[in-house]
Amino acid sequence: MAFHIVEQGYSSHAATALPLLAGVPWLERLQAWHRQGAGAFLGLPGATGELEKGQHWARLIASRARRLVVFGIGGSSLGGRMLVRALTGHGMPVRFFDNIDPDLLEDFSAMDWRESFLLVVSKSGGTAETLAQFLTVLPILEACCPGEWSRRVAVVTRDDGTPLGRLARQAGIPVIPHPPVGGRFSVLSVVGLLPAAVAGGNVAELLNGAAAMAQRCLQPDPLENPALSMALARYQWARAGRDISVSMVYGERLADIPAWVAQLEAESLGKRRPDGQPAGLTPMTARGVTDQHSLLQLFLDGPEDKQYTLFHDPALAQRGAVMATRGVSIPEVAVLAGKRTGELFEAEFLGTREELMARGNPVRTLDIATGDAAALGAAIVLLETEVALLGLIMGVDPFDQPAVEAGKIRARRYLAAMSRERENP
Ligand code: PA5
Repeated sequence: MAFHIVEQGYSSHAATALPLLAGVPWLERLQAWHRQGAGAFLGLPGATGELEKGQHWARLIASRARRLVVFGIGGSSLGGRMLVRALTGHGMPVRFFDNIDPDLLEDFSAMDWRESFLLVVSKSGGTAETLAQFLTVLPILEACCPGEWSRRVAVVTRDDGTPLGRLARQAGIPVIPHPPVGGRFSVLSVVGLLPAAVAGGNVAELLNGAAAMAQRCLQPDPLENPALSMALARYQWARAGRDISVSMVYGERLADIPAWVAQLEAESLGKRRPDGQPAGLTPMTARGVTDQHSLLQLFLDGPEDKQYTLFHDPALAQRGAVMATRGVSIPEVAVLAGKRTGELFEAEFLGTREELMARGNPVRTLDIATGDAAALGAAIVLLETEVALLGLIMGVDPFDQPAVEAGKIRARRYLAAMSRERENP
């Protein structure tokens, strides 16, 4: 594994925040999360049961289908999608659906379900969007593969008493148990491991890297603890007005990381403290080099309200097509001629990072080389642990999402009104 962090403005800032830890039981909480095994995010890397479940189902799916389709939303989709994109090997194609836009759902009728395995993921089993996807596709499955479609469907849910679990039981579909961790902290459970294994990713190595980082995150010296020192520095920067958290990615295989980070930070930290004051980091995602021609001007000259995490694939520097040696009398062309596109990519990454740093921004880079599953596992655990610790330091519960429920209650009222309208037009 080659997992490196290059940073400016984080470790130097952490020491100034040490007084914030007074009365925060951070070490006890870390140890408890680690001890809980599959019952908490920090225990998942060592929970062999999740790995075995993921690999067992991946083998079974490979023997029955040629592609995997995954239904789910939020934490039931973003982690798996991130792993599949980063780690895809010689496995099967995996397609994720995480929306209910009618135009998207129409795609279902055009798909070849005889060749596909469907995995429906919902911890609560009651998420309306995921149930809607499932209910939309069920008649299509029944019509396409009478008598045998249920052999190519499985659901992941808390237990078979959830609404999704009950639907599955009625249809004779197997229920794979979702461990008792929240969706956005579930990527290293069967939720993420199964699709990643189907795609051919090295999930055992992913967990090895994750377990090594979990050990480092138990370090009792706050400034030697990578997750705690980062959490302290990030909180200090937020208090100083830099409460926008930019995740910018350099490497297509890593391109689904920022969306996963955005959900982890937003849903875990955007809350009211016990005194009613709002807390949170506002995530922002960016893609290098494309967004250098869109967002970078704002990053460099705009308000100094951002802290930066760059995800960078160092392996790309040696890759890419060699550009033609033409037009060498034109200086702008000569500098490119004969170079690999990966070299240009790397040069632009280095130049952008240097300029961000030169302007005094807090910038850290997490290096994750193409296919380095262990480095990705380490990065995931670092980010999850620092967000959980940020929640403790900010005085909010990082594992709930109380406000989201309020919106769902309103949506249910609209659905009930639609039912009444239909009954009494
Ligand atoms: O992180 C979370 O807890 C949420 O984003 C959930 O993953 C999301 O709401 C989907 O929930 P469920 O898995 O119960 O369908």
